[in-house]
Amino acid sequence: MSIKHPLRDRSRRGEPAAPLGTAPTGIRLSGVTVTREGQDVLQDVDLSLDEQRIAVIGLNGSGKSTLVRLLNGLLLPTRGAVQVGGLSTATDAKRIRRQVGFVFQNPENQIVMPLVAEDLAFGAKNLGLRGAELTARVDAVLERLGISHLRERESYALSGGEKQLVALASVLVMEPSTIVFDEPTTMLDRRNRRRLQATIDELDQRAVVVTHDLDLIGGYQRVLVVHEGRIAFDGAPGPAVEFYCGISDR
Ligand SMILES: Nc1ncnc2c1ncn2[C@@H]1O[C@H](COP(=O)(O)OP(=O)(O)OP(=O)(O)O)[C@@H](O)[C@H]1O
Ligand SMILES: [Mg+2]
Repeated sequence: MSIKHPLRDRSRRGEPAAPLGTAPTGIRLSGVTVTREGQDVLQDVDLSLDEQRIAVIGLNGSGKSTLVRLLNGLLLPTRGAVQVGGLSTATDAKRIRRQVGFVFQNPENQIVMPLVAEDLAFGAKNLGLRGAELTARVDAVLERLGISHLRERESYALSGGEKQLVALASVLVMEPSTIVFDEPTTMLDRRNRRRLQATIDELDQRAVVVTHDLDLIGGYQRVLVVHEGRIAFDGAPGPAVEFYCGISDR
């Protein structure tokens, strides 16, 4: 079943205009199917993602992570194409990953350096930043997330929630135009969950957020409900949650 709700006009939704210089680039999925071990885990997906705040919800195993991993070329479609700002993830994944950052559900996959500050500096160095500019960028991100006290800590010794915030910091430091979050709040306590929610709300970047945390998405412009490998609903948060509850209660 596929139910489409027309999205309301941007201006009427009061969507903030993207600031100059960080104008997000659209993401297009055309005829995308992903096959894993002979099964289609995502089928015939056609999407244009242009809104600033997009949530992806759905049951366990419905295909949410598969869908969002396509957006920066972490995963390539078996059939069809994914384009970011006109570039294809099949041929330009490296350039696309600078535009589309990804915050993993498990921060262990993201943190690479022994010290927190080194981990954040690592990505920024790859962008060519050095010296005072590099330090200022790292410090600003730590402060923004309220984790400046973790700056000199050893990454391996952080708690799960602290790691999740450091993983987000390591993506923010790269200043991508879109940030994809795959279940960003699973390890966070109430305070850090609210802090993360505020951080996402304040981002200049586009955010695509996979979550089971339905409280998080009330203000989003668009919600995709993934069900059995298809986009079963595409619309505003209220009706999307209603649709999702209908599926979950079956
Ligand atoms: N590497 C793989 N090999 C085989 N099957 C896979 C692979 N990755 C994912 N799948 C299957 O694809 C389906 C969709 O998985 P996906 O991780 O996208 O679900 P999800 O919606 O993110 O679920 P959750 O809410 O539990 O994170 C599942 O049935 C999963 O078992
Ligand atoms: Mg998942």
